[in-house]
Amino acid sequence: MKDKSFLMIPGPTPVPESVMLEIAKHPIGHRSTEFSAILKDVYENLKYVFQTKNPVFIFTSSGTGAMCAALENLINEGDHVLCLSLGNFGNRWAKIAESRGANVEKFEVEAGEIIDPEVLRKRLAEDTDKSIKIVTLTHSETSTGAANDIKTLCSIIREHGALSVVDGVTSVCAMPVKPDEWGIDVLVSGSQKGFMIPPGLAFLTANERAWKVYEQCKHPSFYFDWAAHKKAVEGDTTPFTPAVNLIVGLNQALKMIKDEGIESMNARHKRHCYALRNALRAINLELLVKDDKNASHSITSILPPEGISVPDIRSTMKNDYDIVVANGQAKLKDKIFRMGTLGFVCDRDLIAAVGALEATLYKLGHKFELGKGVQTLIKELHG
Ligand SMILES: Cc1ncc(COP(=O)(O)O)c(C=O)c1O
Repeated sequence: MKDKSFLMIPGPTPVPESVMLEIAKHPIGHRSTEFSAILKDVYENLKYVFQTKNPVFIFTSSGTGAMCAALENLINEGDHVLCLSLGNFGNRWAKIAESRGANVEKFEVEAGEIIDPEVLRKRLAEDTDKSIKIVTLTHSETSTGAANDIKTLCSIIREHGALSVVDGVTSVCAMPVKPDEWGIDVLVSGSQKGFMIPPGLAFLTANERAWKVYEQCKHPSFYFDWAAHKKAVEGDTTPFTPAVNLIVGLNQALKMIKDEGIESMNARHKRHCYALRNALRAINLELLVKDDKNASHSITSILPPEGISVPDIRSTMKNDYDIVVANGQAKLKDKIFRMGTLGFVCDRDLIAAVGALEATLYKLGHKFELGKGVQTLIKELHG
């Protein structure tokens, strides 16, 4: 049956119909009073979602644009940047820093692991002349499904004095992220994830400490310049022509997030993630991130059973049930498959997905007790 496709990848994520209908309207002028009124609400509601008193900038770009907007406004050539990486997206911070001529020190853990706060504490204690200027981190590492303890890591970075720059692309909305309370200096995210709108917008918020470093940046980005965006936010506008329709859609999505409440939205993701993990274990599947407390609440990475390939699982899910799950990335390609439970996802979606996965694995010859996954999931959801 056509038109029944369900995305269970870590982005783009499903978009609510009311958001789609807003996006489908005729574009309006980006300098009109009508659009300014929308932006005013959007900027205010973004502060609520990002749990900050500081402005949140909107860029017409994908999430990587916001990552560039962070580092390109902070780094001068030769700056020492420590990049703590859990995988692909942590490595992206290092690549961006390198593109600005930074002296990059990369620390990468094994796939599925997270940064041990004591290792970071020790490394920063060794930096007695305070040469490390910036530490980049990923909250929820989409390529593995592991999530750092950002609160603890950022407090260690604050003690040292470096700036913490955090990728919250798949954590904002899904997991608690509190920049003001936790001392995150720069936080970025993207629209096609927890925000429940299509790809095309990215977000950044920075605190006063970050602004001091920005002021020392000799060649800040032009398109992503913070000062231009700050001035625009103050005037309920944007520096350039934004993706107007996506912002109109975002306005609706943010209202939905406010109605649900950010804490409830975070709790929904945690409940789904834990229920899914136990359902998968119940059908004899191995998870890449072993310990629940290190798991991202938006992505779960699963090892295929012995003798069954990731492409076969993905194509059967797609062809038989129209459910799209993601492959692994880079060296994890065909080694894991990933299920996203990010954004506009309800219990029904999860029950359907686990049922479809059971049917897929049954067809492909995996040995497990048929029905045990759905049964476990339902019990967990009613927990
Ligand atoms: C954790 C994380 N960071 C950064 C990005 C990059 O975002 P984009 O692909 O929108 O540029 C992604 C995208 O999946 C991501 O999951």
